[in-house]
Amino acid sequence: LNNLSSLQKDKVEKSNIRNVAGLDLASLLRVFERNWFVITSSFFVNNKEREKIRRMQEIRNDWAHITPQDINKKKVIDDVNVIIELMQTFDATMKETRDMENFIFQNPVKLIMGKGMIARLAKEIPSDKRIMITFGGGSVKKNGVYDQVKEALKNHFTVEFWGIEPNPAIETLRKAIALGKEEKVDYLLAVGGGSVIDGTKLISAGILYDGDAWDLVLAGRPVTHTVPLSTVLTLPATGSEMNNGAVISRRETKEKYPFYANYPIFSILDPEVTFTLPPHQVACGLADTYVHVMEQYMTTPGQSRIMDRWAEGILQTLVEIAPKIRENQHDYQLMADFMLSATMALNGFIAMGVSQDWATHMIGHEITALHGLTHGHTLAIVLPATLQVLHEEKGDKLLQYGERVWGITSGTREERIDEAICHTEEFFRSLGLTTRLHEENIGQETILEIERRFNERGAKYGENGNVTGAVARRILETAL
Ligand code: NZQ
Ligand code: ZN
Repeated sequence: LNNLSSLQKDKVEKSNIRNVAGLDLASLLRVFERNWFVITSSFFVNNKEREKIRRMQEIRNDWAHITPQDINKKKVIDDVNVIIELMQTFDATMKETRDMENFIFQNPVKLIMGKGMIARLAKEIPSDKRIMITFGGGSVKKNGVYDQVKEALKNHFTVEFWGIEPNPAIETLRKAIALGKEEKVDYLLAVGGGSVIDGTKLISAGILYDGDAWDLVLAGRPVTHTVPLSTVLTLPATGSEMNNGAVISRRETKEKYPFYANYPIFSILDPEVTFTLPPHQVACGLADTYVHVMEQYMTTPGQSRIMDRWAEGILQTLVEIAPKIRENQHDYQLMADFMLSATMALNGFIAMGVSQDWATHMIGHEITALHGLTHGHTLAIVLPATLQVLHEEKGDKLLQYGERVWGITSGTREERIDEAICHTEEFFRSLGLTTRLHEENIGQETILEIERRFNERGAKYGENGNVTGAVARRILETAL
């Protein structure tokens, strides 16, 4: 710091700056230039690079005092090139670093968790409500959930709507909306997995809308004029029980899009109801939960320590419980942790002030729409390939993830990144899922169709808005 100009020294003293991190660009460059020999002994750069520092000082001084007349295309390009060369010399990454973003957080969902809690329905829903209960294909009749719900609501007015299928279809939901209007229902209770809950979110908006509910999906705007809705969750995966999102499909055209409405009023989570889940649904639920965390975590490093640690905590929990759950799905403690992990992964708690990706999900939705593959399964195929293709820009975070979640502490940067991606794919395989498109007989034709669809809608997904049709194609080709 002794080599700074007197003006700069003055500033450093007044602002009590104690290390180089506090310096502005002009002072930094001067420290660099004047301490060149000390610095090059640890950076191994040759003397020619010193010229770049000098040029950079000129650029800095030029731009500090530039007038509009002096700015022209050539100067901008020349100067930017010097900056790029300088950064490359020192192995600096070109991506921007970001601070924590401003945010407003409010999650109004009342979470009611534990054994026998379905009985609480009687108290939680006002007795004068006209309730429509929505169900899937009948699993709740076999595992006793239906009986518990009916018993709890025996003194309430209820109508039932059955048949909301996995990846709920607008074609089915229109019928539910018609029934809801006819019965003048003023409360909805979704009993099932993410599909029943998502479908019911659209029903809650559709009942109060005069046109076709598919318009609401296509409009892409959150709908807040809705009938109140609560849920009894039977499948941990989507987080739909504690968020305001939904994903609605249209069978006719093989389309699948996100939709946003109001949050549920309350959600009842009894881990015992998950004991009857088919093992494939458990695997897909674990994968979905894992990828939800990754979409909000595997982005820009250093935005928030607390968000990172929460996200890593959920990932570590999943890595710990997944093999045990595959051995014994009737372990209450394990299923309780699974259920809570899934809810916490997508209720906004790990998203505060950090950038989010969601490219894997957008690509996965297309695979489900075109081939009917279960949602979580598509993510197990797409995520490792997304990490591979975007490993440059996600590199720093991949290193952190590798170390904290998988204990990878040795090897070169590239080796460690590779290993972290391998562990991720292996994790999905250990759940019993395939992780390559060819294993599901999906090939080039689908890849081109997804690229076409993304291009048509001008897709720019991912935290840096750079996952376009062409990038999605590279990701899918990597997943072949
Ligand atoms: O229909 P029934 O007979 O009930 O059977 C279901 C269904 O066949 C069965 N099942 C559910 N609970 C069970 C059970 N079987 C035995 N015992 C139980 N306790 O499981 C099958 C799959 O159910 P589904 O609801 O489709 O699964 P999931 O919860 O994974 O939901 C998937 C849907 O949610 C969307 C997905 O895109 C997909 O459409 N997502 C919603 C999100 C959200 N709202 O925030 C985010 C997610 O990323 C996801 O995209
Ligand atoms: Zn998901």
